[in-house]
Amino acid sequence: METGLEPARPLRGRDLLSAGDLSPDEVRRVFGTAAALKAEFLASRRHARPPLVRRTLAMLFERPSLRTRVTFEAGMIQLGGGAIQLTSGNVGWGVRESVADVARNLQGFVDAIVIRTGVHQIAVELAAAADIPVINALTLHEHPCQALADVFTLRETFGRLDGLVVAFVGDGNNVFHSLALVAAGQGAQVRLAHPPGYAPDPAIVDRATVLAAACGGSLVVGHDARAIVAGADVIYTDAWTSMGQEAEADERRVAFAAYQVGEALCAAAGPQARVMHCLPAHRGEEITSEVMDGPRSLVFQQSENRLHVQKGLLVELLGDPG
Ligand code: CP
Ligand code: NVA
Repeated sequence: METGLEPARPLRGRDLLSAGDLSPDEVRRVFGTAAALKAEFLASRRHARPPLVRRTLAMLFERPSLRTRVTFEAGMIQLGGGAIQLTSGNVGWGVRESVADVARNLQGFVDAIVIRTGVHQIAVELAAAADIPVINALTLHEHPCQALADVFTLRETFGRLDGLVVAFVGDGNNVFHSLALVAAGQGAQVRLAHPPGYAPDPAIVDRATVLAAACGGSLVVGHDARAIVAGADVIYTDAWTSMGQEAEADERRVAFAAYQVGEALCAAAGPQARVMHCLPAHRGEEITSEVMDGPRSLVFQQSENRLHVQKGLLVELLGDPG
């Protein structure tokens, strides 16, 4: 079994389907590139020598998106290239033609593909058939670009990741899966409090546990939100109902009622605790407006870092060597 700790390989030409596809060293490499691009962009809103001139990205979106779509498209333009937005309605992957045939066409047109789809296996099929990089822009199983931006935000905010206590409160979902893999690989102490019946995938828990053990971190999963957040550096929450689960929204609202990140839970964590959310937020459900708009909140820094970190990723996957 791959542990995720194999020696770093060149990133050029690779896929990013799972947050576990990047070793901890490779994650740090993406962060280094992202940090340099961010510093240059914040200084002048442009890059003096754009590294992806005339490179192109096809973006297949079967679900709504604000942050992911805009940051990938704006990012490609800022790097000198461009992105083409496509929906399942106008392409019809798996309906008008097979996912593999879509891949074989697109690889002749563009340099990389970004896909947002419910079924993780569709992204896997696309990547298996395409000889250009395929990036997972969210499936029901993982959201690796989000996790990279989140852990980059933690590093920026706290100046370290080693031993940082990251307490996720809510669903053991796609966002938790990817966050656990990236944060555990950087030596963080990852915790999750979820209601019974909403546990993460055991395979992800196993993988993150192996990574954590090798990297000086840890992973703890339980049901008691107050106990899980005690002493945490950051409390992370996400929607109780993910895209594609809308039919379960009423029962989830009941199941997750005790898992709201509000002032009471933050007080149980301590004055040091910051708060994260991948957005979009459902104010009054998983997070209160008081917390989201308050001084603990990192949510808009996370969102902005989607741009910088994905640009770092694109340069590593598509950029010319050297
Ligand atoms: N966090 C995130 O992926 O946002 P979007 O769904 O708006 O892309
Ligand atoms: N877990 C959420 C994340 C949205 C960015 C979902 O999958 O809908």
